[in-house]
Amino acid sequence: MRPNILLTGGSGQVGYELIQTLSPLAEVHAIDIQEVDLSDPLALEHVVRKHEPMDLIVHPAAFTAVDLAEEQPELARAINTESSQILAEEAARRNIPMIYYSTDYVFDGRRSLALRYTEDDRTSPLSVYGLTKRDGETAVRTTCKKHCILRLCWVYGLRGNNFFQTMLRLYHQGKTPNVVCDQMGSPTWSRMIAMTTAIIVSKMLNAPHDEYDGFSWGTYHVSAGGVASWHDFATAIFVEMNRQTGQNIALPKPIASEEYPVKAVRPKNSQLDNTRLEAILGLKLPDWQTQLAWCLDAIKNK
Ligand SMILES: NC(=O)c1ccc[n+]([C@@H]2O[C@H](COP(=O)([O-])OP(=O)(O)OC[C@H]3O[C@@H](n4cnc5c(N)ncnc54)[C@H](OP(=O)(O)O)[C@@H]3O)[C@@H](O)[C@H]2O)c1
Repeated sequence: MRPNILLTGGSGQVGYELIQTLSPLAEVHAIDIQEVDLSDPLALEHVVRKHEPMDLIVHPAAFTAVDLAEEQPELARAINTESSQILAEEAARRNIPMIYYSTDYVFDGRRSLALRYTEDDRTSPLSVYGLTKRDGETAVRTTCKKHCILRLCWVYGLRGNNFFQTMLRLYHQGKTPNVVCDQMGSPTWSRMIAMTTAIIVSKMLNAPHDEYDGFSWGTYHVSAGGVASWHDFATAIFVEMNRQTGQNIALPKPIASEEYPVKAVRPKNSQLDNTRLEAILGLKLPDWQTQLAWCLDAIKNK
């Protein structure tokens, strides 16, 4: 019998890719906001029960509008923390695993740029978004023993409102943006995250039963190799687009974070250390430049 996966946020950047990569492994039951608003706990519990039987809960849905979260902290908490708590309880009750996606924003990014954050480093979010995601992590970790928390960094992809899409739009409009050059991270293509998740799910579902013994539950950092500033990333997009189109649009100009005021404070250092993912699960994502080239190819071939 094929396993059943309950997936939230199937219309999101990561969720959409997860539907493609998880479908060969299992029946994927994607619940979207039309079916249930995650900020409604009773409706969420009801929908989970409607989708019995299930073997795994995968939960990428989140309130991801980082600046808006500063104005709507209750809603951000309901979606990022409380819905994760409910899903973790539902998973624990059935003794099934749960995958939760978290973020580099759980850290304050104040450490030296020569260092990356490991899974064991102290969290200290600077924003409502980061705080509510961190509390979502805690809820999952303490409620559902069989959990996998995947912390992501600077996600972009073919869908949704993300930095990559904004840069492409500006490029096509012939506009040269000013882009922040003092925040460092690893831009990661949502498809790579979904492919990595599929391998993890496959290891999980194939781990010697009946208690999934042998699978290493816990928190993993999952980000592209290498490091870039937002300005480096934007420049790489413009350079590649100039190469593909034969145009010569001027490259993005570097600015400091202070010159681009936003409501939520972002970490200056968002570099995640992926050693645990490689050492325990044998997985290593390509560097960000390779992922960008693949993503731009995917757009060309769409
Ligand atoms: N984007 C990043 O740079 C980044 C970085 C690190 C970690 N993460 C984490 O990675 C995960 C996936 O991120 P993403 O970029 O794929 O997010 P996304 O594109 O913003 O997608 C979020 C999904 O959540 C759904 N959602 C939001 N509010 C909902 C509600 N009240 N009820 C039901 N569904 C709701 C959205 O549905 P609608 O489309 O219908 O609104 C969408 O499908 C998230 O947990 C995020 O915190 C993201």
